[in-house]
Amino acid sequence: MTLVIAIDGPAAAGKGTLARRLAMALTLPYLDTGLLYRAVGRRLLDRAVDPRDAVLAEAAARALRPDDLHRPDLRGPAADMAASEVAAIPAVRAALLDWQRDFAREAGAVLDGRDIGTVVFPEAQIKLFVTAALEERARRRLAELHARGVAAVLEQVETELRLRDAQDRGRSAAPLMPAPDAILLDTTRLDADAAFAQAMALVAPRI
Ligand code: C5P
Repeated sequence: MTLVIAIDGPAAAGKGTLARRLAMALTLPYLDTGLLYRAVGRRLLDRAVDPRDAVLAEAAARALRPDDLHRPDLRGPAADMAASEVAAIPAVRAALLDWQRDFAREAGAVLDGRDIGTVVFPEAQIKLFVTAALEERARRRLAELHARGVAAVLEQVETELRLRDAQDRGRSAAPLMPAPDAILLDTTRLDADAAFAQAMALVAPRI
């Protein structure tokens, strides 16, 4: 198998930044798998359909096109929750499985998400499970929102993260959890550079 690096963890733990930097350093393609669930959720929100409607959500997942991942409105509280709701539907996850596997087929990849090391690529050579304390994750997400000009308050962001984490951990289809062979990386006290340095130190001996 080509080199696959699986990076999982809860929202706003620093997975995306880390995955992007690892991909760049190792010249591997990068896929933010959360965008797939966000794009499915967004399609349903556009049509004022309940994201928990399993039949329509599966149809939206099967109709997904690469361009959908570049929509500018995939981030924000409504898209966050809709993504988490469609992600709990087994048929949606099944519809997106081949997409993720095909992405890495030719050249390998770095993928980040919730179930990459457990379900999508259980054979990945390297699995990282990236975590950080809830308060720190909320602070980071708030800074991201403010940087994009979105008004938000810390308490609200923290409440939404807590809710989404509980939903992602508690679902029966591919719940958020570390693979047994994942390496844990807690970024609570690490900035992006330090997290990248630690990850590279873990990854380098294995490639
Ligand atoms: O990573 P991100 O926050 O963009 O993911 C949005 C939502 O998509 C998550 O809350 C989760 O419910 C879902 N997701 C998933 N499996 C993945 C990636 C994301 O269930 N591999």
